[in-house]
Amino acid sequence: MNHLEEIRAKLGIEEVVGGYIQLKKAGRNLKGICPFHNDTKPSFTVSPEKGIGYCFACNTGGDIFKFIQLIENVDFPEAVRILAQRANVQIPEFKPEAHSIRMKVIEMNSSSAKYFAEQLDASDKHKDYFFKRGLTEETIKKFKLGYAPDSYNSLKDNLIKIGYKESELLNAGLLNQRSIADKNTYDRFRNRYIFPIYDHQDNAIGFGGRIIGDGEPKYLNSPDTPAYNKSLVLYGLNWGKSAVKKEDMAIFVEGYMDVIACHQAGSENVVATSGTALTAQQLKLIKRYTPNISFAFDQDSAGIEATKRSIELAQEAEMNIKIITVPEGKDPDECIKESPDKWFNAIKEATPIMDFYISYILKLHDKNTLDGKKEILNFLLPIIKKYQSEVEQNEYLEKVSLELKIDIKFLWNDLKKTSIKKSYSPPNATVEETPKRRAYLREEFLLGLIFQYPDLYKLIEENLIDSVPVETSTEKFYKVCKKVYNRLSMVDLDAVKKELSEEDKEKIQVYALLIDDNYPDFSEEAVKKEIFEFIKLINKKNIDNAERELIFKIREAKDSGESTILLNQQIQISKLKTKIF
Ligand code: UTP
Ligand code: MN
Repeated sequence: MNHLEEIRAKLGIEEVVGGYIQLKKAGRNLKGICPFHNDTKPSFTVSPEKGIGYCFACNTGGDIFKFIQLIENVDFPEAVRILAQRANVQIPEFKPEAHSIRMKVIEMNSSSAKYFAEQLDASDKHKDYFFKRGLTEETIKKFKLGYAPDSYNSLKDNLIKIGYKESELLNAGLLNQRSIADKNTYDRFRNRYIFPIYDHQDNAIGFGGRIIGDGEPKYLNSPDTPAYNKSLVLYGLNWGKSAVKKEDMAIFVEGYMDVIACHQAGSENVVATSGTALTAQQLKLIKRYTPNISFAFDQDSAGIEATKRSIELAQEAEMNIKIITVPEGKDPDECIKESPDKWFNAIKEATPIMDFYISYILKLHDKNTLDGKKEILNFLLPIIKKYQSEVEQNEYLEKVSLELKIDIKFLWNDLKKTSIKKSYSPPNATVEETPKRRAYLREEFLLGLIFQYPDLYKLIEENLIDSVPVETSTEKFYKVCKKVYNRLSMVDLDAVKKELSEEDKEKIQVYALLIDDNYPDFSEEAVKKEIFEFIKLINKKNIDNAERELIFKIREAKDSGESTILLNQQIQISKLKTKIF
């Protein structure tokens, strides 16, 4: 067994896919919400038997390696590495260049995190800082919190001793250079509490360093490096992803300490944007785990603006959004320190976004004055207008109508006149195309039926007219089946696969899965009938095409000899037609 087979033997497709989306049994297969397009009904079919998962709505999927490539957005070797680790399988070393630069940074970060953690562990005074903030020893260890000494070279010396080069450390953002002219380097993180930042695959990609006491900046972060890009990361996802999946909900907070305090309190489905505005990429990342999110962001006026932008972005990503209001305007960390119950209560009382907007604006303006009403409507109507469905619009207008004591028919009039403000779109938001359901050909369905019920191939041999050409993209599959059938008197799937390229092997599995998807519980009789129906239609199409071509040729014939031959052929075809239809 090579390592790929070993991994395949250890990890079922249902297990791998099930790590990202919830799967429910559907006959002998499983189904879940497709993670590759904005899916509403479960379109992603997983076949443990065939070892593949595929979505026929967006035509994406494949075996475990393909699935990981797609969902983690990595290349094949990286997918193998990820799965090898999960399956606990040793793989031969490989180090393509770009990959190894990133991995090197991650390695240096891991060593640094270890170093910082040791420094913290050695200092009761500094450990006390975290204890005072309510963290336990266990939490400090889990999040690998650390302390960077008040020194310009302690990390640098330590890592150089381990064997890293100064230039590499600079590249990893662990050192700073004095200036362009002065190439001397020094530790970037000095006299700060260290929060190592991990990506969702548990790679140490960067650091946040909190100042001791007050000062600026409060948190110093790693610069962008081959491993760290702040708009892609969600702090805490590595620790929280299974909880996010389990609860089918992700709570977004702002800061490192918020994530840590939440986890310690037992609220583990929490991630942080780390002070930056939420990005489309971050939403895309979380959507692999759940479509449901709650924002627990600051609700001062700057916070509200940021929340509003985040809501719009999440609405564009078609996510379900709720707003958590932390009591007394605290951040989750402060709230939990005071009382974890208050936090859990706040989660329970998360409000739908429209309720949040309404209560927010009612606090700012007096709903009993005409001016107040105007201000409130100016704020709310453009938001309501953005909803596509009139049913939803009506629901929200009703709420507003009750609050402001204005007849809903006036609100509807106003809404009609309201224009939608240009919605916020972040600089590097990726525009996703809506997937198109590909129409599968009859020839493909028929192939799927053969691969699913190889015994029924003889029906094809007996009834499909192969004197006329079949559709070109599937022709080779029919030819291979025929070849195998002639040799073995049956269509043995393994024998068929031996004749095909990797890509084509995957194709026939997709065809077979297509059948699972469309004929979930057909009896063999019903399947036979279906095969006959397809054969009939394909025969008819092929004959019609052949006939059309002949007529064309007859028209173009150069001499009477040629046209006689062609006419004879046409007669043959007509006979054939009357014989079978
Ligand atoms: P806050 O200013 O709300 O800090 O920034 P905090 O998380 O409550 O920090 P503590 O509790 O005082 O320690 C929220 C988040 O924004 C990012 C950090 O990720 C921080 O956790 N931030 C903030 C920075 O990156 N740099 C800064 O200078 C400030
Ligand atoms: Mn805080």
